[in-house]
Amino acid sequence: MLETTPAPEPDGTTEGIWSLNTRRTDAGDVEVAGVRVLDIAREFGTPTYVLDEADIRGRARAWKTAMDDAFADLAGAEVYYAGKAFLSKAVARWMAEEGLNIDAASEGELRTALAAGVPGARIGLHGNNKSDAEIELALDEGIAHIVIDSLYEVDQVARLAAARGKRAPVYVRLTTGVHAGGHDFIQTAHEDQKFGLSVTTGAAQAAIEEITRRESLDFLGLHSHIGSQILSTDGFGKAAKVVLSVRQWAAEQGIDIPEVDFGGGYGVRYTSDDDVPPAPSDFAAILREAVREHCQETGLPAPRISIEPGRSIVAPAMMTLYEVGAIKDVQTDTGRRRYVSVDGGMSDNLRPALYDAQYTAAIVSRVANGEIVRSRVVGKHCESGDIVVHGVGLPSGVESGDLLAVPVTGAYGRSMGSNYNMLARPGVVAVHDGKAYEIVRRETIADQLALDVG
Ligand SMILES: Cc1ncc(COP(=O)(O)O)c(C=O)c1O
Repeated sequence: MLETTPAPEPDGTTEGIWSLNTRRTDAGDVEVAGVRVLDIAREFGTPTYVLDEADIRGRARAWKTAMDDAFADLAGAEVYYAGKAFLSKAVARWMAEEGLNIDAASEGELRTALAAGVPGARIGLHGNNKSDAEIELALDEGIAHIVIDSLYEVDQVARLAAARGKRAPVYVRLTTGVHAGGHDFIQTAHEDQKFGLSVTTGAAQAAIEEITRRESLDFLGLHSHIGSQILSTDGFGKAAKVVLSVRQWAAEQGIDIPEVDFGGGYGVRYTSDDDVPPAPSDFAAILREAVREHCQETGLPAPRISIEPGRSIVAPAMMTLYEVGAIKDVQTDTGRRRYVSVDGGMSDNLRPALYDAQYTAAIVSRVANGEIVRSRVVGKHCESGDIVVHGVGLPSGVESGDLLAVPVTGAYGRSMGSNYNMLARPGVVAVHDGKAYEIVRRETIADQLALDVG
């Protein structure tokens, strides 16, 4: 555990928040997997995402083991790593080496997984508005499944598969009506939103019947994703029951559904105020129970199960390393607040601006002394909502030039990053066994100018 700056807002320890191999050295600075952050900053610059390779692999393995154990005596299980959280060739390769498959949601994610050597048969394709090119690529690469999100896509996938003389393996994404998640924008299974086909209105059942009428579609499974940053198992159990009731309905119509995917959304701890999330084995147990009951009650054979965790695998394994610049004290209605500016911001982590997401931070280049000051870490963008950490206690001795790290930035940080204000997006440096190496190189201003053809 990293011995960190005491933090009154949010306060308490940050136990379980820093990546597994993060430690404070005797000299007072911080190292990850035996590499000092001072050396990472010197060699690769700041801001930089620092990814603890052993940690991300361990989290992937934990999901695989939990699901394999839970479903060994049923029809087995697959874990698809949700590449939208963060994907690079190295990460796709590590996931495959740990026995996971990849969930891709665009041509870019699909091509990244393929470029890493992951075969199409170990990739699933998502999206509510897939292009013909994305579907054609998926079919040509022998994709494991394409998740159909609308009646429009039933036609689209059937037409493209028929033109290639193929049968497309498809799932149907269900809207189960179960709400879960940390923020409205990431609650995806209620009715009034863009994803999936409603079970309540019968839209999903109609799509299933239509799919089974199409020669060029091979109907394999049902899919549900109920939200994101979910810190309890309840929603998964409820959604699983709805999904499995559709499987029972289908069986009554003579339609066999051999596979079921319960999606992602498993939460992590961003600050010490957050609850400790259930373990992968807890989530797996809830899903197993729902499947076992369904089989017992209906007499149907067990389906093969899959899930799609993203955040819970990559978020805690990565931190963002910044350099402190301008520091300013502001008088507010509730007292003094110190604004500590860093050399990145909403272009490397949009979540605080987009979802009001809470993070914590610590000075990692030394032990900064002094009384604890109510502080806000902000970026360098021309936007007052450009906040990196809303509230954290930092020692009064923090100075320009200090390195400040924000933990748990692995998911939806780099992948939602932008070039706002024409900032170059940071690279990703992996650390393992005392070695640091870039897996995604830092962008340069020259990269941006190369796109500007005048
Ligand atoms: C269909 C689907 N699967 C998996 C995920 C991954 O979710 P998480 O990173 O919260 O596990 C998402 C996230 O939005 C999703 O939409």
